[in-house]
Amino acid sequence: MSGVGSTMANLLVAIAGEAHEFQKMYPEFIKAAAGEGHSAALKSFKNAMPVEEVHHRLYSEAAEAVKNGKDLAETAVHVCEVCGHTVAGEAPDHCPICGAKKEKYTEVK
Ligand SMILES: [Fe+2]
Repeated sequence: MSGVGSTMANLLVAIAGEAHEFQKMYPEFIKAAAGEGHSAALKSFKNAMPVEEVHHRLYSEAAEAVKNGKDLAETAVHVCEVCGHTVAGEAPDHCPICGAKKEKYTEVK
């Protein structure tokens, strides 16, 4: 890490990191795990990849707000304990990534 910057600078670093993860890193991990027959790792990577895409979207929404001189409205954030799926607002009845029930979501404060 190169240190803490402005909010926008920090968000841009986070956005780039999440993009790298779901666009390059996890696809490579998935290919390797599939090729090596590591089914548990394959499942984990297949869950993690779309989670990183959600994080990318949430950081992008925050960056857009900052760009417009605003802040995101305060809202509850829920994280799936199984796969890490993150949602701003209420937890869904079932995780769209791993299928876990709503009870598996934890509110992050
Ligand atoms: Fe999940």
